[in-house]
Amino acid sequence: KTYDIAVLVGSLRRESINRKVAEAITRVAPPVLRFRPVLLDELPMYNGDLEAQRPDAVNRFTDQCAAADAFLIVMPEFNRSLPAVLKNAIDWGSKPMDRNVWRDKPVAMSGTSPGAIGTAVGQQHLRQIMGILGASVLGGEAYLSFKPGMLDAQGDFSDEATRNFMAAYMERFSVFVGKLVGA
Ligand code: FNR
Repeated sequence: KTYDIAVLVGSLRRESINRKVAEAITRVAPPVLRFRPVLLDELPMYNGDLEAQRPDAVNRFTDQCAAADAFLIVMPEFNRSLPAVLKNAIDWGSKPMDRNVWRDKPVAMSGTSPGAIGTAVGQQHLRQIMGILGASVLGGEAYLSFKPGMLDAQGDFSDEATRNFMAAYMERFSVFVGKLVGA
């Protein structure tokens, strides 16, 4: 049994350190987790007027999320909260309420920023929002203070301690997903 994990990155930037870290995290995860990027690039800003005929980009996004067993969200912190691009995507996925794509889905979160507490505060906000939407958020925390050289030329974590830390977090996530999604 394998599990499909949708990876959401809360940055549209081409050189996003969070996209690179998301990739590095997926490489230390157990093979039972199969990761698929879900892009936020095309999503318009939420506008209730668009509900009458949801744009294709929105339907693509919610279909991909609905098909996933669980989510890995990796994001920067903007002003000690989550980036608007990610909040907007979460809002689209939460409507209509009877098709909320987040409900009862396992979520693991991580993120990096050059600051000393590398996204810790933003992740608290994300955790709260996902809880309100009925997702099951993996306990514990996994934020990384970004330092140049944190990733090697292949895009892997250079530091063994960081690699082991993320591997352990993803191992816990796989057990959590297995319990919630079932065999
Ligand atoms: C930031 N950044 C930032 N960093 C942080 O640690 N705490 C914060 O509250 C903020 N706030 C913030 C607001 C805004 C509007 C921007 C543009 C940036 C810095 C941020 O972590 C840095 O730009 C990262 O490189 C962004 O992540 P990506 O795009 O490289 O993945």
